[in-house]
Amino acid sequence: MRVLGIETTCDETSAAVVECARDGTRKILSNRIRSQIVEHRPYGGVVPEIAARAHVEILDRLIREAMEEAGIGFSALDGIAAAAGPGLIGGVLVGLTTGKAIALGLGKPLLAINHLEAHALTPRLTDDLNFPYLLLLASGGHTQLVAVREVGDYVRIGTTIDDAIGEAFDKVAKMLSLGFPGGPAVEQAAREGDPERFQLPRPLFGKPEPDFSLSGLKTAVRLAAEAIQPLRDRDVADLCASFQAAVVDCVIDRTRIGIRHFRKEIGQPSALVIAGGVGANRAIRHALQRSATEAGLRLVIPPPALCTDNGAMIAWAGIERLQRGLIDDLDAAARPRWPLDESRAKPGARA
Ligand code: KG4
Ligand code: ZN
Repeated sequence: MRVLGIETTCDETSAAVVECARDGTRKILSNRIRSQIVEHRPYGGVVPEIAARAHVEILDRLIREAMEEAGIGFSALDGIAAAAGPGLIGGVLVGLTTGKAIALGLGKPLLAINHLEAHALTPRLTDDLNFPYLLLLASGGHTQLVAVREVGDYVRIGTTIDDAIGEAFDKVAKMLSLGFPGGPAVEQAAREGDPERFQLPRPLFGKPEPDFSLSGLKTAVRLAAEAIQPLRDRDVADLCASFQAAVVDCVIDRTRIGIRHFRKEIGQPSALVIAGGVGANRAIRHALQRSATEAGLRLVIPPPALCTDNGAMIAWAGIERLQRGLIDDLDAAARPRWPLDESRAKPGARA
């Protein structure tokens, strides 16, 4: 089975072809990604209008390149998967409409994919992983602990009550003038810094529900930074290291509670998994390794390039759905908001 995947929900345009052989062997035949960082950098964040325009300008070329690199013709595809949300609606429309046009032209099935579901299923592309598993989904827009029970069957165990982890990294980077995108910049600066110099809060630490809160921590970083203006490089590094250490402590604590909830309410997870852009952060990856070991669980983390947005994860989610007959109509809607735990695992389900 071979599926073309199209991703345009935020600031990466991507087209990929993924193959799943009869014996279950999966292979990424191509995964072309074009980041819009350069376009958005002057504004310090993603500008929806600029994002949509940039997707339009490059998507058809990326699809052609992905097909060429995969070495197959369009007729060899079994389905077309496009992210249908959640995300910036202008960009989502570009990718989904393109996917529909190709599906219509070829007379092949359309898979209108939930971008969060694609992140959630990526570990099954990269590793042999059975359901159910506990997923920490952490990106720029979402931070959730999710029980992944089956394709289309997700139970949200915990969520952030304010900012997402990636969003907090981005905002801290902005206030410290580290530029955009913030996550990698903060991680880089933190490497040189002293994580104990600033005593920052660990919101919700020890609370019995596995939810997250980042906004108080972010404000604490701002207040600490304002108190020592002007900032030297050393100060910025120490602030980043102290901030990242606080996030790590929260992630370990919240995940520990999440594992406990999972075992009580769902059963035994096959693994602890992290997906989403924040999964690219090394300190957080190491921290989760400790959490998993302590809980006697296997840890699965896709490689960084498959944690951040990419077309291969959309194609893979398409394969998972196609294998179960979960095909979408050509009038599937583009959705700016689309919670992962909203059930739609019905054949022919509309988005
Ligand atoms: O999944 P993703 O590529 O796009 C969304 O769907 O949001 O995640 C992007 C988010 C951004 O907030 C970015 O700052 C964060 O992931 N991120 C990181 C790192 N790399 C990306 N956060 C912390 N450390 C990183 N190394
Ligand atoms: Zn994402």
